[in-house]
Amino acid sequence: MDFTLITFICLFFYNGITYIINLLMNIVIPPIAIILLFFFLPPYLLVKYFISTTIKPVLSKNVAGKVILITGASSGIGKQLAIEYARRGACLALVARREKKLESVAHSTTLIGCQDVFIMCADVSNPEHCKLCIEETIKYYGRLDHLVNNAGIAPVSMFEYCPDVTNYVQAMDTNFWGSVYCTYNAIPHLKKSKGRIIGIASSAGWLATPRISIYSASKAAVISFYETLRVEIGNDVGITIVTPGLIESEMTQGKFLSREGRLRVDPEMRDTEISLMPIMPAKECARAIVKSACQGDDYVAQPPWIRPTLFWRVFWPEILDWCNRILLVPGPGQPETDTLSKKIFDLFPGVDRYLHPGTIHFPEHKGDAEEIFAYYH
Ligand SMILES: NC(=O)c1ccc[n+]([C@@H]2O[C@H](COP(=O)([O-])OP(=O)(O)OC[C@H]3O[C@@H](n4cnc5c(N)ncnc54)[C@H](OP(=O)(O)O)[C@@H]3O)[C@@H](O)[C@H]2O)c1
Repeated sequence: MDFTLITFICLFFYNGITYIINLLMNIVIPPIAIILLFFFLPPYLLVKYFISTTIKPVLSKNVAGKVILITGASSGIGKQLAIEYARRGACLALVARREKKLESVAHSTTLIGCQDVFIMCADVSNPEHCKLCIEETIKYYGRLDHLVNNAGIAPVSMFEYCPDVTNYVQAMDTNFWGSVYCTYNAIPHLKKSKGRIIGIASSAGWLATPRISIYSASKAAVISFYETLRVEIGNDVGITIVTPGLIESEMTQGKFLSREGRLRVDPEMRDTEISLMPIMPAKECARAIVKSACQGDDYVAQPPWIRPTLFWRVFWPEILDWCNRILLVPGPGQPETDTLSKKIFDLFPGVDRYLHPGTIHFPEHKGDAEEIFAYYH
């Protein structure tokens, strides 16, 4: 037998065996998964619920005197997280790009019990800035206990309407790589302190909502990154993955990355995207996040009702996609904001007052660029 024939026979048997193994797994694995779901899930959830309501609160760690670094602390969730940690007596290192806003947050934290606070103006999409932020924190406090990766921006536009897709690279650089850079530099210090990483992702990581495809992808990447990292280093450093729904912040005021790649305020687009969905106050959200981080939870969803939407994604994705398409996608050739969700929103003037905190309605004057600039800088 010549060499080519032997190779052919070997390949035939090799591929045949892998084909049979995969075929067997296709037959065996799905029923096992379903049986596990029915028989294992109820007791698993019960035990988890028991532990989270009885044991975890008792073992909850005190963060008084602990060193907490928060990125994106100049507004929204990050600002409220700083205030909540301060209320619990922590020492803070606050990071963002806008100095004046950071100074004002730092001032607020000192008024309510923060042991010590310092601010760093940095852009988390720059790896050198992230390295420096961690180094400066260690230089100042000598340790790091919690790293809260919260900085983020949201590009909002139908994907195909974007004139240059590279305009959105900054979203991935900030939301995903910003978290990765800070995490990478912080791990040695967090290992020493047996500390914790709090990664602010989003429920958009699993909910396929139109106009935020790049944002959703960046948040799905954050979830996946931290889940994998937890398997690698979970014994040394805790990781809490946070998946907020809609929370009061500059983002829910309509501050989005436009398709031209610039941050701008677009309340009309905000109303289209959010419509009559309720928005949770940032203070409440921050309290729940810090409580969960102190208890050592792996996941936090805020508001809690957002978590079951993950099951919808898993069990009836087509229906979810269909609803989103009907509600949030404009008709062919129509403006982006000409959607059923916006029409429903406009049908109930004043109802949003009960669903959305008043603060998200600033700035009302969409055209007043100077006022908007002064507010955001
Ligand atoms: N609000 C929601 O409904 C919601 C829902 C799910 C997830 N989230 C996530 O929650 C996090 C906080 O957002 P938010 O809702 O509180 O919005 P926000 O008020 O706009 O806050 C975003 C923060 O990130 C900072 N930031 C943005 N780009 C940065 C950069 N390159 N370097 C450093 N800091 C940067 C901003 O500060 P500077 O502009 O001063 O740099 C600001 O402090 C984000 O990761 C967001 O994706 C929000």
